[in-house]
Amino acid sequence: MSKTNGQTNGKGANGKGGNGKANGANGGAAPNLAGDAYPIQDHTYDVVVVGAGGSGLRATLGCVEEGLKTACISKVFPTRSHTVAAQGGISAALGNMGDDDWRWHMYDTVKGSDWLGDQDAIEYMTKEAVPAIVELEHYGVPFSRTEEGRIYQRPFGGMTTNFGEGTAQRTCAAADRTGHAMLHTLYQQSLRQNAEFFIEYFALDLIMEEGQCRGVIAWSLEDGTIHRFRAHNVILATGGYGRAYFSCTSAHTCTGDGNGMVLRAGLPLQDMEFVQFHPTGVYGAGCLITEGVRGEGGYLTNSEGERFMERYAPTAKDLASRDVVSRSMTIEIQEGRGVGPNKDHINLHLEHLDPDVINQRLPGIAETARIFANVDVTKAPIPVLPTCHYNMGGIPTLYTGEVVTLKDGKPDAVVPGLMAVGEAACVSVHGANRLGSNSLLDLVVFGRAAARRTAEIVTPGETHKPLPADSAEPALQRFDRLRNANGSTPTAELRLDMQKIMQTNCAVFRTGEILEEGKQKMSEAYARRDDLRVTDRSMIWNSDLVETLELDNLLGQAMTTVWSAANREESRGAHAREDFPDRDDQKFMKHTVSWLDDQGKVTIDWRPVHMNPLTNEVQSFPPKARVY
Ligand code: FUM
Repeated sequence: MSKTNGQTNGKGANGKGGNGKANGANGGAAPNLAGDAYPIQDHTYDVVVVGAGGSGLRATLGCVEEGLKTACISKVFPTRSHTVAAQGGISAALGNMGDDDWRWHMYDTVKGSDWLGDQDAIEYMTKEAVPAIVELEHYGVPFSRTEEGRIYQRPFGGMTTNFGEGTAQRTCAAADRTGHAMLHTLYQQSLRQNAEFFIEYFALDLIMEEGQCRGVIAWSLEDGTIHRFRAHNVILATGGYGRAYFSCTSAHTCTGDGNGMVLRAGLPLQDMEFVQFHPTGVYGAGCLITEGVRGEGGYLTNSEGERFMERYAPTAKDLASRDVVSRSMTIEIQEGRGVGPNKDHINLHLEHLDPDVINQRLPGIAETARIFANVDVTKAPIPVLPTCHYNMGGIPTLYTGEVVTLKDGKPDAVVPGLMAVGEAACVSVHGANRLGSNSLLDLVVFGRAAARRTAEIVTPGETHKPLPADSAEPALQRFDRLRNANGSTPTAELRLDMQKIMQTNCAVFRTGEILEEGKQKMSEAYARRDDLRVTDRSMIWNSDLVETLELDNLLGQAMTTVWSAANREESRGAHAREDFPDRDDQKFMKHTVSWLDDQGKVTIDWRPVHMNPLTNEVQSFPPKARVY
């Protein structure tokens, strides 16, 4: 039994000290922690949004515009959310740089998803893309411009015209700082509409009552107070969990806290095996070098100076979809054609581009290459390597943002009071693989959709029924247990072990053997949660405890990821099984749904893919073999 279980020996939030047993591990009922040990400040809102990245801010803005009393809780200052790092752009069939049609965009997204995307949601996203971008422009996003003053659009991988025939210029860009521009605009607009922000508040857990979400418990890092937010609707916009991997483009804050809360609420995650590796992370540092570089004419070479993508994807070449480019690079390295002294990376060239193009459209990556690779991009190639970039899996939702679970034989049973948007959610518009620039789009379209749906189901100022008396207890018991964790494993040590297991046992190429080993190693790592050691017991800006709470969230997601990957015996999108190299639509054209219990047991079931579009403006795209 763990040394961490049972004791609460730190001070309570009010400095009066904890009150003995934290979780009843010694057989008795756990005493209440709310009150003396942890006084609670109560808040009541129509809606609470957790997360202030692109999707959280778009949802917040939409809710306040609908007249709903809205709080947005964020563990970081909103404009430091990870959306700020999005570079290349946001897709929409505006047709500013040549013919385009949202149906072509829809087809590309279905194909990119390797037929695991839900076609109703994909239709909604690609059609709504056009008004959503116009709206962003009117909110004030400073997009780059064409000579005629229209929004500038660049080519991105997998984006085609006429159902695969030509190359589309569909990705709207604000130089290579598109996420930054969007985030600042959405935050300013939200402030303008008087949205209420709770900044540097760490969301601990959902308040669930008989299958319904009633609110959320959060910890204010600044003053150490505990807060209970009661709401008719909670919208999780908590981002992905890239930090489960050793090398990733994600910020240190990308720990999938909402996904962790959902697992603890007994709800499932979906399609967790699908983890995208971006082809061009800076070698050694992992920072993103946008696909926009290849969109503007950049290309990859191996140690023989060969533009090897011409062999793997003769038509799309360097602009093939990301799963294809990442796998091709990995094969080149594995077969001894990597560059550098250890032949362990690939070169990305921009030296041939006009310096004006670099200055105007790619200034950010020129700076990143200089700082993190000591490279002047006008003179030398950037050393790059496929790096964990995006989680296609997450909290299963409908295109309205409503979270669903499997219940009473229904695959789409809505969880009342709970929505999820952005990378935290699995709508599923990206299926087995996301196309570049469809993420920023997903954030705004579904942030907006969740706000619209909320306005349909919640009346501003509607009365709340009282919460159960012990509504904060599960969250506080866990918080107190981790705060007083007194084992022998430092958080950073277990986190590193988890990251290395995931990088080794659940990365670009997978086999049954490697995944089985991953399951065993992750189970052992998960069990070591009980032996964690937190040295700082304080309540104010206790980063040791923040990282431990984040690690606890990451561990659950790593478990469901490796289990889901072992269970899917086919190759589809980003999930490349060397032992099952083909896509198997008969057996596996379905979503993986996974639950995790506190003992580390993963349970798996399936949901059907939505093959039918929403309207008759387009037809379903039946599965086709992939040709690059
Ligand atoms: O390459 C990039 O600029 C990343 C874009 C994306 O992930 O959508």
